[in-house]
Amino acid sequence: MAVNVEHAKTVAGWFADSELETLATLAQGRNVIVEIGSWEGRSACAMAANSNATIFCVDAWIEHPQGGFEATLETFAKFRDNTRRYPKVIPIVGESVRVADAMHRVGIFKADMVFIDASHDFDSVSADIRSWWTLINWGGVLCGHDYGDPNWPGVKQAVDMRFGGQVEVSDSIWMVKK
Ligand SMILES: C[S@@+](CC[C@H](N)C(=O)[O-])C[C@H]1O[C@@H](n2cnc3c(N)ncnc32)[C@H](O)[C@@H]1O
Repeated sequence: MAVNVEHAKTVAGWFADSELETLATLAQGRNVIVEIGSWEGRSACAMAANSNATIFCVDAWIEHPQGGFEATLETFAKFRDNTRRYPKVIPIVGESVRVADAMHRVGIFKADMVFIDASHDFDSVSADIRSWWTLINWGGVLCGHDYGDPNWPGVKQAVDMRFGGQVEVSDSIWMVKK
C-alpha cells in the first residue's frame, strides 16, 4: 500500500526520504510498535502517519547525552510538537535496556515491531537487540537504522553477530522476522 511521509520529511533527523518510506511500509498493519531512539520524532512520524498502531517511543532525552546524540529538554519539546497530531504516539522517557527490563517484569507487554535507532556502538546495539527481542510477538519484526553505515560499524557487527544470514536490508534499514 502507498505511504505518505510528507509530514515526516519536515521533521529534523537523520533519515533519508526513501528510508522513511521503507519504515512507514514496515509499520503498516501493526498493532504495537516500539521505537528505541526518537530524537525529534522524524522516524516516529513516518510510522504514525501510515499505521494505526500504538507507538511507544523510548528515548533517554532530557539531559542525558547518549551515544553522541545529545538530546535535551528542547529536543523532547520538539518531539512533542512534531508528534502532537498522532494521539497514538506515546513517549517513554528512559534508558532503553532499563525500560525493556521493566516491561519484562510487568510481563504484560508484547510488540509486533521494534525499531532500534538509539546508541550506535556495538555494545549498545547488542544490548538493545538482547533486551527487546523477547518482547516481540512471534510473527513480528525487529529492525533498526544505519546498517552498513561506515560511521557506525558497530551496528552491522552487532546485527550480523546475532542474526547472520537471517537479516534483510533495505537502504540502511535492517530487519529480522521473528
Ligand atoms: C539517531 S537519534 C534517533 C533518531 C530518530 N529515530 C529519528 O529518526 O529522527 C538517537 C536517539 O537515541 C537516544 N538514545 C541513545 N541511546 C539511548 C539509550 N540507551 N536509551 C534511550 N535512548 C537512547 C538519544 O537520546 C537520541 O535521541
